Amino acid sequence: MVTNLIVSFFSFSFFLPILLAILSSVPPTISSNGFSIGETTVRDLQLAFKYNRLTSRKLVEFYLEEIQRLNPVLHGITEVNPDALDLADKADQERKTKAPESLSRLHGIPIVLKDNIATKDKMNSTAGSFALLGSVVPRDAGVVFRLRKAGAIILGRASMTEWSFFRSSTAPLGWSPRGGQGKNPYTLGNPCGSSSGSAISVAANMAALSLGVETDDSILCPSSKNSVVGIKPTVGLTSRAGVVAVSPRQDTVGPICRTVSDAAYVLDAIAGVDIHDHATIEASKYIPKGGYAQFLRIDGLRGKRLGVVRDFDNLLYLTPGSEIASKETFRQHLNTLRQRGAVLVDNLKLDNITELYFTDYGEQVALRAEFKLSLNAYLKELIASPVRSLADVIEFNKKNPVLEKIEYGQDIMLQAQATNGIGKTEKAALEKLERLTKNGFVQFMNKNKLDALVTPGDITARILAIGGFPGISVPAGYSKDGPFGICFGGLKGSEPKLIEIAYGFEQATKMRKPPPYKKLKL
Ligand SMILES: *[C@@H]1O[C@H](CO)[C@@H](O)[C@H](O)[C@H]1NC(C)=O
Ligand SMILES: *[C@@H]1O[C@H](CO)[C@@H](O)[C@H](O)[C@H]1NC(C)=O
Repeated sequence: MVTNLIVSFFSFSFFLPILLAILSSVPPTISSNGFSIGETTVRDLQLAFKYNRLTSRKLVEFYLEEIQRLNPVLHGITEVNPDALDLADKADQERKTKAPESLSRLHGIPIVLKDNIATKDKMNSTAGSFALLGSVVPRDAGVVFRLRKAGAIILGRASMTEWSFFRSSTAPLGWSPRGGQGKNPYTLGNPCGSSSGSAISVAANMAALSLGVETDDSILCPSSKNSVVGIKPTVGLTSRAGVVAVSPRQDTVGPICRTVSDAAYVLDAIAGVDIHDHATIEASKYIPKGGYAQFLRIDGLRGKRLGVVRDFDNLLYLTPGSEIASKETFRQHLNTLRQRGAVLVDNLKLDNITELYFTDYGEQVALRAEFKLSLNAYLKELIASPVRSLADVIEFNKKNPVLEKIEYGQDIMLQAQATNGIGKTEKAALEKLERLTKNGFVQFMNKNKLDALVTPGDITARILAIGGFPGISVPAGYSKDGPFGICFGGLKGSEPKLIEIAYGFEQATKMRKPPPYKKLKL
C-alpha cells in the first residue's frame, strides 16, 4: 500500500521542472553541528537545544533563509517579525539561566500566525487587506498572549484568503492583495484556504509551527491539501479575542503543523480561558487535566469506535476540493485503522445529509449577518485604523481598485452589509442549523456510540462547522492532483480521543512527505 502511494507521489514529477527552474540552489536543510533542520518536530528541536546542537537563533536564521528562498514562489508569509532574532537570543539566554523544567515545550520554537490573528508588535495585522495596513491593535490576541507566555517565538504572519474568504465569492483561494497568490508547495496550484499560508509555511518548512483559524473548512481543507496536520478545536476551547472574526458561533483558532504531536503541543499552549472571549469560560470544562500531550499514545486506536458513512463516496466528487481523496487509498486506510484495534462501524447513514449538501441550509444567511456584527466590533476596538466598519472597508475597496484587485468583486461583503443584525430570517436559519446538528451529527454519534466519524479529505467540514465540533486532518496520501488528508471528527470536547486516534493513524501510516523538491537536494 505504502509503495503504491509513494509511486503516485512521484507521478506528479511533471511539476518538478517548474520547481527546479524557480527555486534557488541552496540546500533545503542545513546542518548545525550535524543536526539537520527541516522536517524536525518540537521534540527533536528541544533535544537539539538540550544537547547544545542548536540554538533558537540558528533555527530562526534557518527559517528566515528558507522564507527568503521559497516565499517569492510560494507566498505563504506576508511579513516576518523584525524582532524574531532578538526573541531568539532572549530564548537562548533563558535556556542558559532557567531551570529546564520551568520551560514549556514551545520555548524557543518559531511559529507563524494567520494574518487575521492580532499581534501587538512591529507587524501589521491585516487579514490580507490593505484596508487594515497601519491599524493599531489594542493588545495581542488571546492565543498570542498564551504563545508568548509559553516562550514561543512569533516568526511572522502567514498569508490567507483575504478576509477569510468573506469579501468575494470569486476571488481565488489563498489569494490576498497583501500576500499575493499562495501556492501549494506540492503542486504550485491551489493551496485551499482560508488558512492557506499557515499550511504552506509548515508544509514547505518555512516555519516549525503555525496557527490557522476556521469558520468552515479553513483549517481542515488547507491541512488536507498541503499534507500537514490541522486541529480544528471545539469552538471556545481557544480564544478568538483579537482575531478578525467572521462568526462567534463557528470561529475557532487551531494549530496547523507537520505532525499530530506538534499540533497537540500547540493546542496545549493556546487552549484556555481568556476574559476577552466569554465562550472560553464555558468551553474550559473540556480541557483535560494534564493537557493534550498525554493522549499521544501509540496504541491510541485500540477500542475506538469509528463511524464510516459510505454516502460520502458520492458526495466526494461533487464537493469542490474533495475530489482528490482517492477511494482506494481510503479503503486501505480503513483496513489499517481496523488492524490497529479500532472498531469500524460501517455503512452508517447520517440523517439530514442531503439537506446539508444539496439545499440552502441556512449557514450562509447566518454567517453574513454575524460577519458584519463581528467585523464592526473588531474594527471598533482598534486603537487606530484606516477603516472603522464594514461599510468603510467596502468603500476602501472601491477607492483602491488596483491595490485590492476590485475585479474580483466584493459580493459577500455587500450581502453582509445589507443585513441588519440577527433578525427573523437569521433566527430561522440559526434554528435550522441547530435542528440539522441535533438530528444529524449529534444523534448519529450518540446512537452509534462513536468516538469519531472518519472521512476522506475535508468532506465533513460543514457538519463540524455548523455545530462547533472539533476535527483533525492528518496526511493520508498523494494523488496526481496533490496531497490529501483523512479527517476524524467528533462531538464537543472530544479532542483527547481525536488526538489518540489521529496519532495512532499517523504512527501506523507515516504518510507525510516533504514537498518533492526537497528530495532533489536543490
Ligand atoms: C507594516 O507596514 C508598514 C507600512 O507599509 C511597513 O512600513 C512596515 O515595514 C510593516 N511592518 C513589517 C514588520 O513588515
Ligand atoms: C432530518 O432528520 C430527522 C431525524 O431523523 C428527520 O425527522 C427529518 O425528517 C430530517 N429532515 C430532512 C429534511 O431530511
